[in-house]
Amino acid sequence: MAATAAIPQFPHDFLWGVSTSAHQIEGAADERGASVWDAFTTVPGNVKDGSTAAVACDHYHRYREDVALIRELGVGAYRFSVSWPRVLPTGSGSVHTAGLDFYDRLVDELCAAGIRPVPTLFHWDTPLVVQEAGGWLKRDTAERFADYAAVVAARLGDRVTRWITLNEPAEHTLLGHALGQHAPGERLLFDALPVAHHQLLAHGLAVRALRAAGASDIGIANSHGPTWPASADAEDTAAADFYDILLNRLFADPLLLGQYPDGIGELMPSPDLAADLRTISAPLDWYGINFYQPTKVGAPLPEGTAAEFSGVTLPPELPFSPREIDGYPVTDFGWPVVPDALTELLTAFRDRYGDGLPPLVITENGCSYEGLDDQERIDYLEGHLRALHRALEAGVDVRGYFVWSLLDNFEWAEGYRRRFGLVHVDYDTLERTPKASYDWLREALRAQRP
Ligand code: NOJ
Repeated sequence: MAATAAIPQFPHDFLWGVSTSAHQIEGAADERGASVWDAFTTVPGNVKDGSTAAVACDHYHRYREDVALIRELGVGAYRFSVSWPRVLPTGSGSVHTAGLDFYDRLVDELCAAGIRPVPTLFHWDTPLVVQEAGGWLKRDTAERFADYAAVVAARLGDRVTRWITLNEPAEHTLLGHALGQHAPGERLLFDALPVAHHQLLAHGLAVRALRAAGASDIGIANSHGPTWPASADAEDTAAADFYDILLNRLFADPLLLGQYPDGIGELMPSPDLAADLRTISAPLDWYGINFYQPTKVGAPLPEGTAAEFSGVTLPPELPFSPREIDGYPVTDFGWPVVPDALTELLTAFRDRYGDGLPPLVITENGCSYEGLDDQERIDYLEGHLRALHRALEAGVDVRGYFVWSLLDNFEWAEGYRRRFGLVHVDYDTLERTPKASYDWLREALRAQRP
């Protein structure tokens, strides 16, 4: 029996959705070009349970069943990602027709079910060939990405109106290129900064390509969260400020203000930084925020103390160190559950970016817990929806909310150990079973309808 739906009333045109990404659910790896994640997962030790996403949820072959689950849930939109190497196996040049056909069928299926398709063009699965040519360290990758965006828009643009360029370029820079915990496994520390600039440039060039193809509803999905200093001491506040720049302002400032935080622009490789920033800050129709948790940060710990953060071991040479947030429940992943931090984030965001801020959309929010009777996920979602509603009441313009995730899926370096889905996936049989949280959300959304 579903628990009572207990969330406040949102505006009647508020967009409700669920999110996934290609590499995490599609499988059918032998029916597309290879990506950096295929290469990364074959190296022993890179994925904690030793798994790969070769099959994952086999969504590529079971998408009809998954669309039926989305329809039954009663959300209005589905955020998925298009796999660049499925469309262009070598990153550019000739199109893999069967790959593009898949997204065409998926979009048709969604439209027929009355669900709005919201594709993300890049969710970390860079074609391996592009990586071998230098990947995101090379400016050329931004150009290739814009060409790929144009190919997808030409095929899907008659039915897709809402687009997302990139997913979480901050994590892709930090985990993938600075710390080596995600593909492509580079450990460049601060030499990874060009990866941030080239992704931002790719975003701006893709916006241009999408607009040229007639798109009028374009956003990006960036991860953000409040950064709390470990204490009021100057070393701790300076460390927290530094981390805040890396996670929040390094990406939001160029997009929304047309400038990098002080001292960063000089570090970016560009023949004409001012021109790049104009491209990067092209007006967006909305701005997507992925929110999971706040972070507490202090000065670096004494030499030799490795800091653990969200399952990631940080090297000692960083000028900050994450600290435990006490006094809150934690998810199976060990992430603190702090709904108020979402209200704090959204009001602070509105205050910082003011008039330059387009409407916001929560493009991801969710948690990992085991089991079908996932009362903790219900509590998490209910708490965060209440926190979101408080932000609306405080005047922040938020237009939509997407749960991460529809299905349990391949959680990157964690493999299948972390279950973020509203729907359970049995990885032996690939059977889908809605969890208690799925029933709860369906009832909560029913209660939203007039
Ligand atoms: C954000 C990422 O976009 C998504 O791929 C990931 O699974 C979730 N966070 C949970 O870690």
